Amino acid sequence: MSVKTKIPYIEQNQQRFLDELFELLRIPSVSADKKFRDDVKKAAEFIKTKLIEAGVDKAEICPTAGHPIVYGEKIIDPSLPTVLVYGHYDVQPADPYELWETPPFEPTIRNEKIYARGSADDKGQMYMHIKAFETMMQTDSLTCNVKFMIEGEEEVGSNNLGIFTEANKEKLKADMIMISDTGIISNEHPSITVGLRGLTYVEVEVTGPNRDLHSGMYGGAVENPINVLCEMIHKMKDKNGHITIPGFYDKVVELSKADREAMAKQPFSLEKYKKDLDIADVFGEKGFSTIERTGIRPTFDVNGIWGGYIGEGAKTVLPSKAYAKISMRLVPNQNSDEITKLFTDYFLSVAPKTVKVKVTPHHGGEPAMVSTKSTAYQAAALAVEEAWGKAPIPTREGGSIPIVALFQKVLGLDSLLMGFGLDEDAIHSPNESYGIFNYIKGIETITLFYKHFATLSKAK
Ligand code: BES
Ligand code: MN
Ligand code: MN
Repeated sequence: MSVKTKIPYIEQNQQRFLDELFELLRIPSVSADKKFRDDVKKAAEFIKTKLIEAGVDKAEICPTAGHPIVYGEKIIDPSLPTVLVYGHYDVQPADPYELWETPPFEPTIRNEKIYARGSADDKGQMYMHIKAFETMMQTDSLTCNVKFMIEGEEEVGSNNLGIFTEANKEKLKADMIMISDTGIISNEHPSITVGLRGLTYVEVEVTGPNRDLHSGMYGGAVENPINVLCEMIHKMKDKNGHITIPGFYDKVVELSKADREAMAKQPFSLEKYKKDLDIADVFGEKGFSTIERTGIRPTFDVNGIWGGYIGEGAKTVLPSKAYAKISMRLVPNQNSDEITKLFTDYFLSVAPKTVKVKVTPHHGGEPAMVSTKSTAYQAAALAVEEAWGKAPIPTREGGSIPIVALFQKVLGLDSLLMGFGLDEDAIHSPNESYGIFNYIKGIETITLFYKHFATLSKAK
């Protein structure tokens, strides 16, 4: 299959662009699991090699307390604008493996899509930038300086990226940051992301008796921490999907009627959405549409819950402990530390005195908004229009890229969130995929972006 583009070089090199991505997808660079440490390193080395082959002046692997960051740059003329490209080469764990139709680290093409862990999030999308850069180098059309910062810890909270950014402000100096780690509405309706949610993630532990007990001998007379945990979680949200943690919504920015009307015009089919997920109905905060529920409203969700006996057959046990992992997605102007505190205070307050409760915060991140008025957004809009034949729709997405807010704070720079994923790509799920069309169109759009960004920057 050959995807039509406006740039002959991209069309001529499609097969090789795919082959190289496949090679990267075969490296299981799962950042969360120590078992894959060497593979994570191997992926970093692969990126460095490909940056050099594509034509950067220098590329280096920067060690951190965790997984390394790959940095590369091509400075053609200090008086020209500089683009800082951010992406991540680490991926989510592929579990559960048995639900994959083809193995997660053996990329396979079906229905014109590349099936593999990381194909869309974010190896496929990050690699588009290296191939767009190669295209400009090979066709003598690079119009900006480029810096690449590709990290290996995004899926585990980017803990060391903040430190690296703080320590390398001068090196990372740029006019804008470009990230392809988000999605579009559909291939018929290209869009550019202008908002991302923040995140608070906590683990809770509820302890009842000091050891697992016989559920017959003690059952009915001693508190069961799993039952208690379920009741406590139940108290965090009412039947209208409204979160009941006191103060939770205090700082939430409510949208104007005009902004909500604009959101409602966004193409969206509830029927298709339900069919895709095989659900009879959607559920969410009363008074808000599905697009609003993921775009502009915060959430409370249990991501995992366990305790007691979960092995084969039946074991009669009254458990000593119960656990849950809980995420709260945040919107402007909520703050992750503040929300963590509000949650912790309330969660502890609803605990009966028959149990002990421990709350452990994990990584968090702040929500982010980016302006449609910037030169970068304007250039991106022109590039999308040229490549896709349609002006992009600005959208707000439910996922989180905590470093976007951090870049705003530390580098004073907005990010352009020009990703090309689709909901159906199933990122973080079994059978993750990325469309060949999206991969190639993405390379084309990024290449066109540089042209427009240089022209618009000069006009300013
Ligand atoms: N690429 C995603 C974020 C994303 C997904 C943005 C879909 C917009 C649409 C990123 O790799 C991710 O998974 N982020 C995590 C947060 C992180 C702190 C682990 C997330 O959103 O859960
Ligand atoms: Mn990602
Ligand atoms: Mn991800």
